[in-house]
Amino acid sequence: MATKTLNDLFHETLKDIYYAERQILKALPKMARAAQDEKLKAAFLQHKDETEGQVERLKQVFEIIGKRAQGKTCDAIEGIISEGEEIMDEFKGTPALDAGLLAAAQAVEHYEISRYGTLRAWAKQLGMNDAAALLEETLAEESKTDETLSTLAETAVNAAAKKAA
Ligand SMILES: [Fe+2]
Ligand SMILES: [Fe+2]
Repeated sequence: MATKTLNDLFHETLKDIYYAERQILKALPKMARAAQDEKLKAAFLQHKDETEGQVERLKQVFEIIGKRAQGKTCDAIEGIISEGEEIMDEFKGTPALDAGLLAAAQAVEHYEISRYGTLRAWAKQLGMNDAAALLEETLAEESKTDETLSTLAETAVNAAAKKAA
């Protein structure tokens, strides 16, 4: 059996998050269309634009390690996104829809935060400071998005979900 090292783990995990980001890019416009609250819609659309930049950063990281940008099916993100779709179906037209969509979006962000935190640490360990900086930039965007969503939930969306239609 071939020896596998942190370099291999880094490459595999990069493929995982590259796949995940591209799935997220497809999911965000659907979530924006489904959202009823204008600010939530806007947050989803803004994060869609950011996600396009994140995909570009990942391509740069692939370049740094001399590999072609390639995804690998990520079951975790597929599961998180299908839970979001389930909420869209089951809560369609109800006051609770937005709170459910927002929670689904936060699950996505937390997955990403976990991945980017790991990748950044591994990049540093491997002495790839440029890659670490790119990953750090995206990690900051994901964290900021998570905070924005928390604020929206706590200031508007959760309360709106409590009301009878
Ligand atoms: Fe992302
Ligand atoms: Fe994100």
